[in-house]
Amino acid sequence: MCGILGYIGKERALGTFIDGLSRLEYRGYDSCGVVGIKKGEFFLKKQPGKIHDLRKELKSFLEEKFPIGIFHTRWATHGRPSEANAHPHLDCKGQIAIVHNGIIENYLELKEALVKEGHKFVSETDTEVVVHLVEKFYKNSLKDAVCKAIKKLNGSFSLGVISLKDPTRLIAVRKGSPLIVGLGKDGNFIASDIPAILPFAKEVVYLKDEEVAVIRHNTVEIFHFKGKPVKLEIEKVNIKPQDAEKKDFEHFMLKEIHEQPEVLKKILSLYAKRNAIEFPYINLDEKYLKSLKNIFITACGSAYHAGYVAKYFLEKYCDLDVEIDTSSEFRYRELNITKNDLLLAISQSGETADTLAAIRDIKGNGVKIVGVCNVEGSTLTKESHGLIFTHAGPEIGVASTKAYTAQIMALLLLALHIGKIRNTIAEKDFKEMLEELRMIPEYQKDILTKTGEVKKIAKEFSKFGCFLFLGRGINYPSALEGALKLKEISYIPAEGYPAGEMKHGPIALIDEYRGVVCIAPKDFLYEKMISNMQEIRARKGKVLAIVNYGDSQASRLSDAVIYCPQLKNTDFSPMLVAVGLQLFAYYVAKNLGYEIDQPRNLAKSVTVE
Ligand code: F6R
Repeated sequence: MCGILGYIGKERALGTFIDGLSRLEYRGYDSCGVVGIKKGEFFLKKQPGKIHDLRKELKSFLEEKFPIGIFHTRWATHGRPSEANAHPHLDCKGQIAIVHNGIIENYLELKEALVKEGHKFVSETDTEVVVHLVEKFYKNSLKDAVCKAIKKLNGSFSLGVISLKDPTRLIAVRKGSPLIVGLGKDGNFIASDIPAILPFAKEVVYLKDEEVAVIRHNTVEIFHFKGKPVKLEIEKVNIKPQDAEKKDFEHFMLKEIHEQPEVLKKILSLYAKRNAIEFPYINLDEKYLKSLKNIFITACGSAYHAGYVAKYFLEKYCDLDVEIDTSSEFRYRELNITKNDLLLAISQSGETADTLAAIRDIKGNGVKIVGVCNVEGSTLTKESHGLIFTHAGPEIGVASTKAYTAQIMALLLLALHIGKIRNTIAEKDFKEMLEELRMIPEYQKDILTKTGEVKKIAKEFSKFGCFLFLGRGINYPSALEGALKLKEISYIPAEGYPAGEMKHGPIALIDEYRGVVCIAPKDFLYEKMISNMQEIRARKGKVLAIVNYGDSQASRLSDAVIYCPQLKNTDFSPMLVAVGLQLFAYYVAKNLGYEIDQPRNLAKSVTVE
């Protein structure tokens, strides 16, 4: 939700900052803007639209160099996308500039008071109050003015602030929304996420909550909001610049779908040793796992669906009760969670506000929290007792793909690990399961060779105005995920349902104008799935089935089929089914001509509640 980039140091071309900003575009893309200081003046340009439009607009300035600047890509909260509402925002005199990610909850009352004092507002945003507050408090130090201003703010905010009155300092603030400081050779950066600064900085400092950084071209000082200096904890950047590039793929989503076999191989090679599973940062000992009472899972969106798949594994292989809820509901429930329970918080970004709020609310219970997370250094990784990294690499397409199957694989390994320790999995089964898991990347590759067929199917099915996705057992969450993928990028209403529930309501939707995706691998629920497919056929619904090679019954009842390899252990099938469903959603959206990597209204890292 909004991306911030900032720089101070040796002069750099404006074009390089626009490139950096575009690597944050997954965070919001309805408007954007830049401001740099040159010869004692601001060079400011902001507008609604995407970064490539801004680049076009600034074509003749891309080589222009600046020693200091702040840059922003927006996901609108307060005020529609417009030039006035785009960041950076300036104070009345046009001497202070601010970029912001987050929400100022008390902005209305602050705005009223500032207006009474004579401040002139030009936007509908919550952000603009911050720059007027800094203006109000400015005496002779930008840092002091910012520190006074933030004391007045409620909500979540990361900020970048510069001023013509002191162009030797860039002030950065973090409360609730992520912000990093990048340490470069000839200057220093701030950014909402690492990809923005990948070519420029190899070391970073992750600002913690309630910290302010005073950044100069060759120094970085960090203070707590209460004023105490904080020791810099410098960390190496582990991502390569090329990991965040699209390569030869038309979209990041397609690239990331194709990366899944490599990602899963990596997870297996890191965690699954010959006959054991080791998570280096899990921080849970055997005694604790043996005496574990219940597992709770909290997550949002696709991560929630991955958690739902994990619920089935953990219940089946570890003999534990597992409760799961979306983070935005989990946090308000009166759950009886104790120190003998484990909470798994799953998040690709590690910055999802609802998930962070859920774990913060529960911490007092003494429950152990293990974060299952893709982004190193993210807030979730700092606030969990233990960690399982999903090692999917930067996921830039807004619709999650490789991060989802990576979460499933990591969680399945966790279930095997716990099951082995609790003696709920026999040694022989453990070995066999690991052996088959090592085949999953190859099986995914097999499905990826079906791209041509899926393209044709998608063309045929993109005419339907509504979809039902049906699955049973461990593939019920696959149905939820398939529906989410389709609606996110093609805007076609789609619902995921447990197939057995269809007769209790959704069956009323079915006619020849609806598409029904039936997930029907050959498992113990196959026959029941076949009955559901008969019911759909009888009502003229158009069926796309995801089945195993050699299938005849389900295929006969379908208008189109995507084949997956047959597994010995069908509990692993969600990692294969997902690939077919992702390709299907991708090609439907492409066929309809939508902007796949940046679907409307969405942003990747959801840092508002
Ligand atoms: C779906 C999608 C979202 C995220 C959700 C949680 O394609 O990307 O539903 O899964 O916003 O995000 P993380 O995993 O970063 O907490």
